[in-house]
Amino acid sequence: MTLEELRSKLEEELKNVKLNLQALNELKAQYLGKKGPIQELMLEMKNLPKEEKPAFGERVNALKMLANQLFDEKRKELEQREVEEKLKKEAVDVTLPGKKFNEGSVHVISKVIEEVEDLFISMGYEVKDGPEVEKDEYNFRLLNVPKNHPARAMQDTFYVDVETLLRTQTSAAQAHTMLEYKGEKDIRIICPGKAYRRDEDDATHSHQFTQIEGLVVNKDASMAELKGTLEVMAKRLFGEDREIRLRPSYFPFTEPSIEVDVSCFKCRGKGCSLCKDTGWIEILGAGMVNNNVLSMCGYDPKVYQGFAFGVGVERIAMLKYGIDDIRSLYSDDLRLLKQFKL
Ligand code: PHE
Repeated sequence: MTLEELRSKLEEELKNVKLNLQALNELKAQYLGKKGPIQELMLEMKNLPKEEKPAFGERVNALKMLANQLFDEKRKELEQREVEEKLKKEAVDVTLPGKKFNEGSVHVISKVIEEVEDLFISMGYEVKDGPEVEKDEYNFRLLNVPKNHPARAMQDTFYVDVETLLRTQTSAAQAHTMLEYKGEKDIRIICPGKAYRRDEDDATHSHQFTQIEGLVVNKDASMAELKGTLEVMAKRLFGEDREIRLRPSYFPFTEPSIEVDVSCFKCRGKGCSLCKDTGWIEILGAGMVNNNVLSMCGYDPKVYQGFAFGVGVERIAMLKYGIDDIRSLYSDDLRLLKQFKL
């Protein structure tokens, strides 16, 4: 093959539209490799007469340079084409509708807790946390409920071992806080959290539930302040025109003990199915901290006095939002949860 033939053959082959980068490399190796036609022409040189050698050598070199140049140009062109094709393939249509994200919502139980926390923080209370797996001592004994005390029957308990249990009430936080404050500091806390009792689950009972405990200890805490505090809470939760009434009750850790009712917000006191025609709905238990509890927890009952209350969060949520089965608060039914988006 002559130089000219070789050159036009190469130019022809480079025009092939099916050429890709890999084929181009192969073609380059074929033309410019050690056994390729250009190298062969170089070898032919030795058979030429001496005076023709320089001119021929120059032409072969020129062809070699040209071939290299053509291959380079083609490679750049192919690379460019590859990028363009990739961009085209990966193009995003920004006019298409986007993916919808499901917005979450705050659970009603958390909502009630947050509402009560906000209120009490604004009245100078601290929010405390306590363990759910608790010692018998804090859940019962320091709260004036020794072993075998009949009041234990009021709260059927999950025991982990003889001394350890799942707390049956957030009241356990009372003993913890009083001991922590060493009988000398004033106390004003609420403690929201889970509690557990061996109840059969039904529409109004759940073996796991949520309580908010409140405790105030200082030198002048009084039943009047307790009543005022609970009235503020009832109004905040159920409406400004609500009233409360106190009924005598019994808890081992408070003396006197009371149960608190709120005037029915559905019938406004006239009587309906929600308040069972009484006009009143029971919402919580409370009382003045029993002297035995104060002294067992390091506070001198001659100097200090206190009040405490415990609210069931599920009950508040159910009353407030008209939920008639406590179990739906623990189900993952989004239809219920979605109604309470903030
Ligand atoms: N711990 C009591 C209960 O769970 C409620 C309560 C708390 C009563 C504080 C009085 C004072 O039934």
